Amino acid sequence: MENRKLGRTGIAVSALGFGGGPVGFLGTEQEKVTEILNFLLENGVNFIDTAAGYPGSEEAIGNAVSHRRDEYTLVSKCGQAFDDLEGEAWSAQVIGQTVDRALRRLKTDHLDVMLLHSCDQEVLEKGEAVDALVKARDAGKIRHVGYSGDNEAAVYAAGLDVVDVIETSVNICDQLNIEMLLPEARSRDIGIIVKRPVANAAWKGVGQQPGFYANYTTTYAERFAAMGIAPGDLGFDSDAAWPEIALRYTLSQPGVTTAIVGTTNPSNAAKNLEAVAKGPLPDAAIEKIGAAFHSAESASGAQWTGQR
Ligand SMILES: NC(=O)c1ccc[n+]([C@@H]2O[C@H](COP(=O)([O-])OP(=O)(O)OC[C@H]3O[C@@H](n4cnc5c(N)ncnc54)[C@H](OP(=O)(O)O)[C@@H]3O)[C@@H](O)[C@H]2O)c1
Repeated sequence: MENRKLGRTGIAVSALGFGGGPVGFLGTEQEKVTEILNFLLENGVNFIDTAAGYPGSEEAIGNAVSHRRDEYTLVSKCGQAFDDLEGEAWSAQVIGQTVDRALRRLKTDHLDVMLLHSCDQEVLEKGEAVDALVKARDAGKIRHVGYSGDNEAAVYAAGLDVVDVIETSVNICDQLNIEMLLPEARSRDIGIIVKRPVANAAWKGVGQQPGFYANYTTTYAERFAAMGIAPGDLGFDSDAAWPEIALRYTLSQPGVTTAIVGTTNPSNAAKNLEAVAKGPLPDAAIEKIGAAFHSAESASGAQWTGQR
């Protein structure tokens, strides 16, 4: 497994990471989460992303691998209000409590990075939320402060001296951050975690995914259909190649550190390891995917912005 430096944090992290959204939102059984995470750790993946807002995800990860805590870089997210916590969204009060709760749920004494979970730029400008994470960092509860978000707000976050890491959407159906954010992030040596790196399996089509994901994946599925590209155009044999094409595309973008694929399926975890081992996608395929995105975006008459 290729390791890459998470920007100025200096932490070496695997190009493939684990995204803990689906196991939370879909309520994946503990046994399966334990199987997937231990399998990934044994095969060189050393990066785990979760959030206070993914129901049960922090707990499941803590139960699965906290006994191996020194083998992975751990990221969670905070900022939203919760019924069992006091304080309003993005307040220092709620963020402080969410950090402490994440440590308990993840059964650890520190997080490597805590991200503000998709707040608007106004929240960043106000300063209270960022300052609350700086306080947690100074207390040794988190090692680095970060932001999860897209477009102009992510560019604004990249300009803040205390923000070492940004989590953002980059994939075959989500390319604005490649132009808008990645060059700025590279110039400031900010680590980039890519969320939604296989475009939520957009090739499956609108409404074809379970639970919460049925609606959440619609924008990408519609963009994918409008892009009208086939694996044959990119030098691949069949539709079965889409997960590999999508993952290698994301990891080929300069400035990307790690792609945190969300999976609830041990066999997909194994396939993603194989895909990453093949390295960057050939330049011709990258160019065709870029051209298909831009031409379908122009035909749509609207800017295709980075998706939360
Ligand atoms: N605002 C935020 O901060 C934010 C927003 C979104 C996501 N995230 C983070 O980013 C992570 C990744 O995003 P995501 O989970 O939304 O999207 P994703 O990783 O792009 O896609 C996940 C989907 O791809 C499927 N998949 C994965 N590997 C596959 C393979 N080899 N073959 C076929 N299908 C495959 C999964 O199905 P199976 O379960 O069947 O494998 C799941 O339906 C999340 O887990 C979360 O940690 C953060």
